Amino acid sequence: MSWDSTLNLAAYADVEAESNYATPESLRNYRALLLQKSVPVADFIGRLPRKNRKLHVLELCSGSSRLLYALNERGILAEGYGVEVSQSRHEFAETWKKDLSACNVHNLLCDVGEYHFRHDRLDVAVLIDGALSYLYPCDPKLPTRVLCELQNRLVAGGKIVMEFDLLPKEHVEVMHREGRRRTWNKGDERDAFGYALYQVEPVDWDHMVFQNTSIYLPRTTAPEKVKQEIYKYYSTQELAALLDEVGFDVEYFGSFGAEAYTPQSKALIAVATKR
Ligand SMILES: C[S@@+](CC[C@H](N)C(=O)[O-])C[C@H]1O[C@@H](n2cnc3c(N)ncnc32)[C@H](O)[C@@H]1O
Repeated sequence: MSWDSTLNLAAYADVEAESNYATPESLRNYRALLLQKSVPVADFIGRLPRKNRKLHVLELCSGSSRLLYALNERGILAEGYGVEVSQSRHEFAETWKKDLSACNVHNLLCDVGEYHFRHDRLDVAVLIDGALSYLYPCDPKLPTRVLCELQNRLVAGGKIVMEFDLLPKEHVEVMHREGRRRTWNKGDERDAFGYALYQVEPVDWDHMVFQNTSIYLPRTTAPEKVKQEIYKYYSTQELAALLDEVGFDVEYFGSFGAEAYTPQSKALIAVATKR
């Protein structure tokens, strides 16, 4: 392995630190933004067959647990478990849970690689925002191990909902030509930063592993924040083979709006069903 396999565990160390939200209003607005961002995924999960039952959901790399709170808000969550390694995000999730009195949401501060899967009879497992892509750089065997655990813990017909970033051909060309690709993004007015610069560079072309450096410029005179993470891009063929090997059928979508995936799609959503 030619990269730092611990990088992802520390990447989000200060993200969503409560000190970022100086007033109750800024915290309220930011939580509203997180719930708004979760609408398409929560709607998608709400449309999965569930025989009028509430769902038992496990999310890996759950961040602020925003999706679990969005599912709870819709009244379709029986129990939700979120596994997240960043202490600041875990604390953010816990404060939010207290304010919502959401005692059916369980925020677990843990590295997925160290997590003991112990909750049985799960209806849905969630790895969105490229969560599976973050696991391979920690340990190339981890994705298969996690999928095997989920195969054991899901009910028959249970689903894994996964979301992956796609690497457009033009970006590959830029990286082959220039060794990296940079983009500027303007933050939403409720974000703690005004602008972010993202730089992606290849670390292993054979396994499609890339390092992303994000530089966040705060709205105040506070120093900029730098975040580095490593992830793997999966092709649909590679994913199908991985999922088939551990007993799942897979269906692809191009968005959480549920349109079919095509090579022109901007995102890749994979829904794996336990055989
Ligand atoms: C792109 S974020 C997505 C988070 C979540 N979906 C959200 O929107 O808040 C990736 C998250 O995965 C977490 N993460 C990365 N590797 C992890 C690991 N091995 N175990 C647990 N969490 C991990 C990071 O700390 C980060 O919060």
